[in-house]
Amino acid sequence: MKVVISLLLLVLAQVCLMSSLVPGPSEAEAGPGTLRILVPQNQLSGEEEEEEEEEKPWPAAGGWELSQETSNFGFSLLRTISMRHEGNVVFSPLSLSFAMATLMLGAAGPTHTQILNGLGLQALNGTQVTSVPALFGRLRETLSCNQELALTQGSLVFIHKDFDVQETFLNLSKRYFDTECVPVNFHNASQARALMNQYINKETQGRIPKLFDKINPETKFILVDYILFKGKWLTPFNPVFTEDDTFRLDKYKAVKVSMMYRVGKFASTFDKNLQCHVLKLPYRGNATMLVVLTQKLGDHLALEDYLTADLVETWLRNMKTRKMEVFFPKFKLDQKYETHELLKQLGIRSIFSPWADLSEVSVTTRKLQVSKVLQKAAIEVDEKGTEAVAGTLSQIVAYSMPPIIKVDRPFHFMIYEETSRMLLFLGRVVDPTRL
Ligand SMILES: *[C@@H]1O[C@H](CO)[C@@H](O)[C@H](O)[C@H]1NC(C)=O
Ligand SMILES: *[C@@H]1O[C@H](CO)[C@@H](O)[C@H](O)[C@H]1NC(C)=O
Ligand SMILES: *[C@@H]1O[C@H](CO)[C@@H](O)[C@H](O)[C@H]1NC(C)=O
Ligand SMILES: *[C@@H]1O[C@H](CO)[C@@H](O)[C@H](O)[C@H]1NC(C)=O
Repeated sequence: MKVVISLLLLVLAQVCLMSSLVPGPSEAEAGPGTLRILVPQNQLSGEEEEEEEEEKPWPAAGGWELSQETSNFGFSLLRTISMRHEGNVVFSPLSLSFAMATLMLGAAGPTHTQILNGLGLQALNGTQVTSVPALFGRLRETLSCNQELALTQGSLVFIHKDFDVQETFLNLSKRYFDTECVPVNFHNASQARALMNQYINKETQGRIPKLFDKINPETKFILVDYILFKGKWLTPFNPVFTEDDTFRLDKYKAVKVSMMYRVGKFASTFDKNLQCHVLKLPYRGNATMLVVLTQKLGDHLALEDYLTADLVETWLRNMKTRKMEVFFPKFKLDQKYETHELLKQLGIRSIFSPWADLSEVSVTTRKLQVSKVLQKAAIEVDEKGTEAVAGTLSQIVAYSMPPIIKVDRPFHFMIYEETSRMLLFLGRVVDPTRL
């Protein structure tokens, strides 16, 4: 009798750190759905939480700015991706921010400044805010306390056994991001690969059985950061009403999709300037999906130029709740990004260059640079359980015709955690029949 539409998101980001004398990029290969980043090794004994900052409920000082700027960072990344292709997109600004914040712990000088500026968080420098990584750490804690949200986040660091990592770096990444450190011998590639795959498979509950295919033996550390989100709609769609329908790709092409349907109370708004509908689809646990649908087919890319955190705030303020009919396609996306290329375009360059200052990671190993940052993200909006719910059919026969929003053309979606207004996922669905 229970019908649940669930959303499953897997994000994999990967940062490879290695000696800059090594030519070419690392060989690490990402599998489906994890975030992997390079980090150094050490034995961290247990949880040392001595100098915890005062427990203050979110939003902490600077928290609002952190959320706003993380959204803006996400929108900038989206625009950068659009310069490369116009297809489907899904990624997690939050996950990438966690990874960059961990790297900030290891970076100094201009390398550090570039990351801070690239994340748009320079305004937080010099305020009473402790540090950007600490702030992300506080956010992570807050999100993990919310059981209903069904967000699993974690961070692993594989460190070459002889690599001398600064204890402070390890202590802080443990404290802020609960990073687990695993010593690995990268010189024995097959052994290292097996060990890392085993760890990641376990941490991601079997969703990513084989993340690494090839490992560059010069690797010093790999940081893997993953986010799994299994959201449940606050009010599920009833699969009985899901039907094959047409989704228009452009003026000439269309595809068949499974179109879900629900009539009920929805919060939405229409932006007259941008000629788009914005529809709110809430999840359990204070998360929400905003669907942005341009009135005219083919306008969706132009809209991206205007996306800002302020604009989203304006939409949310103008939302009205009323009875509506909503048609929303089921879809599934699986994307992989060479995020380092995108970050360079946003001004974060030094860390990828031979001049990277990663002295907070290691003082003994000079010439350390990040070779790449990968993100792998997947989203699936589907129905689980197909038992018909008797009696609901009558709801459908609406005599007064409510307004209809039919998502049958390219659209954007944003998934927010509402109390912190943090942008968890951002994406664009151009063709729901493709990954
Ligand atoms: C932060 O502010 C201090 C002093 O206000 C300045 O010296 C430093 O360069 C700033 N750091 C960054 C990363 O902007
Ligand atoms: C790191 O944590 C360990 C264990 O709690 C502690 O003994 C050590 O002093 C810390 N080191 C630094 C540099 O903070
Ligand atoms: C690499 O590790 C495997 C498995 O532990 C081991 O059998 C093999 O001898 C190692 N190879 C080298 C070159 O050390
Ligand atoms: C959701 O938000 C409301 C209001 O902001 C808050 O009272 C409630 O505790 C939150 N629920 C969870 C599970 O965080």
